[in-house]
Order: sequence, then structure tokens, then C-alpha cells
Amino acid sequence: MTTRHPELSRKPVIAANWKMYKNPKQAKEFITAFLPLVHGHNRDEIVLCPPFVDLAVAVEATHGSNVHIGGQNMHWQEEGAFTGEISAAMLAAVGCTYVILGHSERRQFFGETDESVNRKLQAALHAKLTPIFCVGELLAEREANKTEEVLVRQTARGLANIAPESARRIVVAYEPVWAIGTGRTATPEMAAEAHLVIRSQVASSLGREIAEGMRILYGGSVKPENATSLLNQPEIDGALVGGASLDPQSFAKIVQYTSR
Ligand code: PGA
Repeated sequence: MTTRHPELSRKPVIAANWKMYKNPKQAKEFITAFLPLVHGHNRDEIVLCPPFVDLAVAVEATHGSNVHIGGQNMHWQEEGAFTGEISAAMLAAVGCTYVILGHSERRQFFGETDESVNRKLQAALHAKLTPIFCVGELLAEREANKTEEVLVRQTARGLANIAPESARRIVVAYEPVWAIGTGRTATPEMAAEAHLVIRSQVASSLGREIAEGMRILYGGSVKPENATSLLNQPEIDGALVGGASLDPQSFAKIVQYTSR
């Protein structure tokens, strides 16, 4: 458990969550500036998750590069009368290979529950997408010493009824809600401790071998200045970056954190 990325099976993932920022023209401009900055970088997997309307442009602009594209949400059904929704198959058809699921903003503002996130995870795996499954405690939960309980519950319910074989692709993102967009970051030690709790629940849900290979990212105010200290924690297998991913130079600096 203490070796970093045993046999390189835990290749770090550095993912950008653009949230509701950038139109297709701005997405194209970002990618044009960003690709030369990360050309040939393959120590980490690089993922951009733009708004839905930018996906086709982003897939086209990154074609043949080392940058992958993902959605920020999806519905669990393949198709149907679900006005305003997008399915996993649609994301895959447009060229996405990743999808963020259960982000705390979806849980807080759009009524996502552990159960809906679980259905979405199953659908994403079925469509061969790599889900970035988000978990994390609220400030009040941390202050009430409930962090472990919350992480165990979200992880266990999110991973319910998922066959271990298909679960290998899942990437987990630990995002303490109080650190998102606030400039407050979990210390590397706090993050590492939370990652151990999550990994041990993944082991209970899916078996130790799957748990050892699962990438667990940290998210919440990751910036060029703190990326190196966070990403060198043996338990931290990458980052999910919001605000600091909107600028190509800043996101490229995070991708190029120093490995010690
Ligand atoms: P932040 O967002 O980096 O702006 O804190 C992270 C996230 O919400 O994924």
C-alpha cells in the first residue's frame, strides 16, 4: 500500500473540470494554447471535461494528442423521454472517454443521491467510459467528526452492485466540499488519510486487488503552487482541478508537477 503506483498500474490522472465555463470558441482557443505545453507528456493521463456543447469541438481539437475528453455528468438511461439529459452512449459517440459522476455541485444543487450516482456509474461502465466518481464530506460533517462515515457511505453505495471486473476502470475523486473553489486545500496528510479510508472501503466492496489498482484523485483548490506537495503523497493518484484548469498555462503547470 505504501509504494507509489505499484508496477505503474496506478498511472496518475490529471483532470480539468471546467464546470459551466467556456463556449466552443473558448474551448478551442484553450486547446490550441494547451497542447504544445503538454506535448509528449505521458507520465500522467490528461483529461479535459468541458460543458456538453463544447465536447465535439474539444474531441476534434485534441484528436491524435495525449489529451482525453470527458463529460461532467450524464443520465443512466441509454435514451428516452428525459428532457435536457445526455446518455453515456451519446458521450461515447461524440468521442468522450471519461465522465465525471456525483460531483458535489450535482449532489448539492441538482439532487443527486448515492443511488443515482450508482446507476450512472453502472451505465458509464456499460458504455465503456472511464467514470471519475466523486465523493467528499461537507464542512459540517468534517467538524462533527463524520468524515470517515460519509466517505464510507458514499463509496459503498456508489459502488453497490458493480461487478469487480468492470470496476477496474473506475477512478475515484476525493473532493472535500469545503475545499472546492474556496482556496482552502486539504493538507496532503488530510487528503492521504481520506484516500486510505476510501481505498479500504473499495477493498470491502470490490476486493483488495481492485482497490490496490484504483486511482484515487484529490480535488479542491489544486493549483500550480500546491500540486507538487499533494501529488507526491503515495495515496494520491492525480487531481481533479476546477478553477486552476481554466487557464492553459496554469493547468499545464499542474500537469507538470515535480515527482519526487
Ligand atoms: P476547484 O474545483 O479546483 O475550483 O476547487 C474542483 C472541483 O470542483 O472539481
